[in-house]
Amino acid sequence: MPFMISLFTAKSGNSIASRCREDEATRLRLRYKPYYHTFDRQIGTHVWLGGTEMIMLSSNDYLGLTHHPKVIEAAQRGLAEWGTSTTGARLSNGSRSYHQQLEEKLAAFLGKEACHISVAGYISCMSAIQAFAQKGDVVFGDKNLHSSIWAGIGLTQAKAERFAHNNPADLRELLGYESPETPKIVAFEGVYSMEGHVAPILEILAVTAEHNCFHVMDDAHGFGVLGQHGRGTANHFGVTDKIDLIAGSFSKALASTGGFVAGSREVIEYLRSHSKQTIFSAALAPAQAYAASAALDLLQSEPEHLRRLWENTKRYKQILHDLKLDTWGSETPAVPIVLGTKERAYRFWQHLMDRGVFTVMSIAPAVPPGKDLVRTAISACHTDEDLSKIGDAMAFAARRL
Ligand SMILES: Cc1ncc(COP(=O)(O)O)c(C=O)c1O
Repeated sequence: MPFMISLFTAKSGNSIASRCREDEATRLRLRYKPYYHTFDRQIGTHVWLGGTEMIMLSSNDYLGLTHHPKVIEAAQRGLAEWGTSTTGARLSNGSRSYHQQLEEKLAAFLGKEACHISVAGYISCMSAIQAFAQKGDVVFGDKNLHSSIWAGIGLTQAKAERFAHNNPADLRELLGYESPETPKIVAFEGVYSMEGHVAPILEILAVTAEHNCFHVMDDAHGFGVLGQHGRGTANHFGVTDKIDLIAGSFSKALASTGGFVAGSREVIEYLRSHSKQTIFSAALAPAQAYAASAALDLLQSEPEHLRRLWENTKRYKQILHDLKLDTWGSETPAVPIVLGTKERAYRFWQHLMDRGVFTVMSIAPAVPPGKDLVRTAISACHTDEDLSKIGDAMAFAARRL
């Protein structure tokens, strides 16, 4: 669960103004100052902060396509052909042929009948719940789900139940309390963004098979990373047909911004007319759609990026393992380094900064108590030299803990 969530859930005072001054999350942010850094320049995995060059080790540019010439050229073509914005919602005047083409291409890639794209993965994940859940339904969500799904649940009148993270046995118990007639949605992530854990989908499906559930999977961090050519976590497990809705983001492996929800034609058509996030918000901008579309082509035509991502991930995890750093059992390129207390996490993060490696700190209550961590992510774009420097910085920070 990312740190940002805590900015909105922390305890606060009575007046709005005092809340803005005194709430715990704001005080922590101001004290540690690890957030909202502004880079002056970027070249691939290298960024400049106040004139200092650093290696970016927390971006979700998994395949390193944000600077790929074909992606940049496609975005420029989108701008030249369609201008900067649709200035309208899909439902009214914002639909364009490039939206439809991208939706069809994505659906075919994922192995689903239909797809609906929107301006952000956050919006897509919200709508994957908000459009479907109603009063009288129960939504069962993994405790560590991303904020976007909880936000979607919050917009409905459905009852929400949290099951223990990646724990199908707990889900089974909770499902058992509900009547067989109650409509049920089960929501989980394919790959958990903070932990790097893969969902035990086969076990989840074995549990839900007895309960006629509607499955929603946020695969923002599995898409482009797992499965054949990066088709995602459902493809990885061979269960694409069993997951009713696969939601995801263009802002990770697809090197753009925007999001998608894919499913059966009937379900996606229903979403198009029931998702407030789509009905009342402007459609995805041309440059972003063109960039995502070009990146999607590259997933298939240049598999070397995915290969390199996993080679880099293996090498990086070996570095962390040799230093005896705790990676919370991450199985993917999203790799937390668990330090256990705020102070240790801050010190570790600061030492990495001093050694020219940029990461993101995440501390309780955004993570469970005792799991304060530094969140890192590997990219196919990290060079051997980057990895050596990262290794040196990790050793330096680990020695000083
Ligand atoms: C698991 C998960 N779902 C959804 C999102 C939202 O994606 P976007 O950045 O495209 O809004 C994120 C982004 O951090 C994420 O990590």
